[in-house]
Amino acid sequence: MSEAVGVGLLGLGTIGTGVAKVLDRNASIIEQRLGFPLRLIRIADLDTQTDRGVDLDGIQFDDDAAGLINDPAVKIVIELIGGYDIARRFTLQAIEAGKHVVTANKALLALHGEEIFSAAERNGVDVAFEAAVGGGIPVLRALREGLSANRILAVEGILNGTTNYVLTQMESTGEPFDVVLKRAQDLGYAEADPTFDVEGIDAAHKLALLAAMSFGVRIDFKRIPTEGIRGLEPLDFQAADDFGYRIKLLAIAKSRGEGQPIEARVHPTLIPKASMLANVDGAMNAVAIRGDAVGPTLYYGAGAGELPTASAVVSDLMEIAREIHRDASGRVSPLSYPHGGLRDHPLAPLGDRHGRCYLRFTAVDRPGVLSHITGALGEEGVGIESVLQPGRGDAGESVPVLVFTHPAEEAAVRRALEHVDGLPDVTAPTKLIRIEDDL
Ligand code: HSE
Repeated sequence: MSEAVGVGLLGLGTIGTGVAKVLDRNASIIEQRLGFPLRLIRIADLDTQTDRGVDLDGIQFDDDAAGLINDPAVKIVIELIGGYDIARRFTLQAIEAGKHVVTANKALLALHGEEIFSAAERNGVDVAFEAAVGGGIPVLRALREGLSANRILAVEGILNGTTNYVLTQMESTGEPFDVVLKRAQDLGYAEADPTFDVEGIDAAHKLALLAAMSFGVRIDFKRIPTEGIRGLEPLDFQAADDFGYRIKLLAIAKSRGEGQPIEARVHPTLIPKASMLANVDGAMNAVAIRGDAVGPTLYYGAGAGELPTASAVVSDLMEIAREIHRDASGRVSPLSYPHGGLRDHPLAPLGDRHGRCYLRFTAVDRPGVLSHITGALGEEGVGIESVLQPGRGDAGESVPVLVFTHPAEEAAVRRALEHVDGLPDVTAPTKLIRIEDDL
């Protein structure tokens, strides 16, 4: 029997508890696969009193994070504290102490990845983060290893379960955003402060990691144009349905070819009902990756939750434990490319996008309004495929006017909207939702 690898866990919240459960209940299959045991020997959390419903017998459990990090028996530190500051400090301390680190913290990596990955390279340790993107879906391992022979052409995904749940519910019940979000919070799907999810920031964190691994570029998530789902109305789902689409919050990164800027964006998107991503419902996640040799591939599964996320964390532990046993750490660089091999690369401005759009205008129902709207679009060379005015406004009331455009440059559409939104009969800013027909 080979020697066990000792693991220390920082943070015994939902995911941490899931990790303890998976390591306990699957200990024998993990040992069979590795050829040696993986042992959770220490846990540190400020709350040592709450019963998490998991057997912690034989595990040292206290609030001493520094003691855990510096314990010579701990070879791999799992960071599941979340947030930025403390997680960053402990992660860097662990790396400096020569410990490998496993984390699920996409926000930490999106913000401090540069510092963390270079510290890991300097210290000859691994940083693994399969759980940070797509929860239990092993999409990062697929990208880093299974698809490593390909030029990646596009990555398109539903990377946030909370927003996918809200969109699916808005579509099926016809209820407004606030009502559905409240229910999602009551059911524990959405966090008490759902800002990161709802505004698309969580998806942008994840897309920054996927894009770096796909294209070998350094991407600051703050540079990724990001729109959330707050501005969507039941009417948009009805119109999308009538025209053969569903609305999904998509994270998109595409290569436009060698030497060209990369497209990266997060926004609600109309996608054809027949596409596989359109049929990903509820809190599930999915990522479609196209490679030049492999063609289209699709990865689907639970993007969050105690055990699915723990599944990814423990798979990272197993990979690192194998490397420790073979004395072969750093076998594959965390972002697929050696840290110094990542390039700075321009992102395509959103105005460059060429595609169809759905536009929801809000205007007083008065003769001539429609011609002003269509005229402004026409002046910018934006062709119209369909116009709908569902309902009739009495005595100067505002009504929605819905337009599906032909493919157009987004900058031209924006100029037309600026003009339209300045008209006296237009009473609210126009909502633009991009249509992706090729999914
Ligand atoms: N808040 C995330 C989601 C959880 O809703 O998908 C996992 O990253």
